Amino acid sequence: SFSLLSLIAVGQCGNQIGCCFWDLALREHAAVNQKGIYDEAISSFFRNVDTRVVGDGGSISKGKICSLKARAVLIDMEEGVVNEILQGPLRDVFDNKQLITDISGSGNNWAVGHKVFGSLYQEQILEKLRKSAEHCDCLQCFFIIHSMGGGTGSGLGTFLLKVLEDEFPEVYRFVTSVYPSGEDDVITSPYNSILAMKELNEHADCVLPIDNQSLFDIISKIDLMVNSGKLGTTVKPKSLVTSSAEALKKQHQKPFDGMNNIVANLLLNLTSSARFEGSLNMDLNEISMNLVPFPQLHYLVSSLTPLYTLADVNIPTRRLDQMFSDAFSKDHQLIRADPKHSLYLACALMVRGNVQVSDLRRNIERLKPSLQFISWNQEGWKTSLCSVPPVGHSHSLLALANNTCVKPTFMELRERFMRLYKKKAHLHHYLQIEGMEESCFAEAVSSVSGLIEEYKQLDATLGTPVEDLPRLSVAV
Ligand code: GTP
Ligand code: MG
Repeated sequence: SFSLLSLIAVGQCGNQIGCCFWDLALREHAAVNQKGIYDEAISSFFRNVDTRVVGDGGSISKGKICSLKARAVLIDMEEGVVNEILQGPLRDVFDNKQLITDISGSGNNWAVGHKVFGSLYQEQILEKLRKSAEHCDCLQCFFIIHSMGGGTGSGLGTFLLKVLEDEFPEVYRFVTSVYPSGEDDVITSPYNSILAMKELNEHADCVLPIDNQSLFDIISKIDLMVNSGKLGTTVKPKSLVTSSAEALKKQHQKPFDGMNNIVANLLLNLTSSARFEGSLNMDLNEISMNLVPFPQLHYLVSSLTPLYTLADVNIPTRRLDQMFSDAFSKDHQLIRADPKHSLYLACALMVRGNVQVSDLRRNIERLKPSLQFISWNQEGWKTSLCSVPPVGHSHSLLALANNTCVKPTFMELRERFMRLYKKKAHLHHYLQIEGMEESCFAEAVSSVSGLIEEYKQLDATLGTPVEDLPRLSVAV
């Protein structure tokens, strides 16, 4: 598990989540590796640039991070967020060769990010990506983090996908995409999101959609529980996330902090069994190998549990089982979705901490009767166990579901898109960009409709006896 991935953060949202991710990643490796020896686990995320130490040298002790550089590329066409990162506690883990910034931003316009900045920065981006890949022994995947609703992350982020596909066809392309929260978001976010979705459909191997509304709801619920003492304990619960009430109290913190923390934890959990030793390992390429049976249906619904834990070490079985139950409840999904009442194509359970294979088996057997798996993949479970828990916690579970419950998110997005598109509202901002035509919009929405249709066909098989199943058009 050397040099697992190169993480590419694009735009404000991508970089703010990325910042949170690298902060947690450093803390996690420092907690495990107290001697500060540069080892295989650290090398999956960081390269050692400390030339003073020979052999296995380098030091991460006591948060001293000067010898480590993150395997990352930071891109934003507005320099504010990246500059802030460079002035903060993480400044030493990035160097100039990993950064690409401009001044103006893409003004919440996908076309500016994709077309204008895409062609302007293609060479520079490619050069930095090649450099980041050269530093890796066996690069498994590129991991892009971006938002769908703005201009840079959405436009340039998806431009990059195509560049990666052409340049590194054998390296997996994982994307974490933050979907806009709804009516109160950027006015052009439906356009940007639909235009970006076409690119995700065509050029990503695996997409983890995250919905800002879900993140917000989860944070609010935690706040409520913490503040009302509903957790029914004298032990102060440790939240996996910074509560937003806390965040509001501390004026210098940003409202997105708690939400971004959830996503950062998700990414750490996703990669933990590939980074650390464990009794059941899962590499990133195995995720898409096992969970994506048809290339188009590469959207995985995720849930992370528990989002808070009590500070005790011995976990009663009851609470461990609750963690598994919660992972399947709609309140814990990172998009607004209900996997229990939709069809599973496959499901991965990635566990961290003091959990046994028997716990995994017991819970799968217990939950199975309440879940609907597609007829030809009734045993479509993939599991991993990593003995290293998240920092300050005893255990955690990430569930990844290839499930048709992702469909409503795309339908709602299409509806919001159509509302603007029918009136041609704000269209001229896009059409004045070279290379943009109305057909781009028509093609994008038709790509999304095609995807929705595939999920609909699968849903239609729900409850149908196996022998009556229609042939799936996607099964080519
Ligand atoms: P331009 O600013 O247009 O150049 O593009 P950008 O990629 O920088 O835009 P941004 O990432 O700000 O995209 C806006 C969308 O992202 C909106 O839906 C915001 O709600 C969301 N967003 C922005 N920052 C964050 C963040 O830190 N966390 C989360 N979860 N969402 C964010
Ligand atoms: Mg921006």
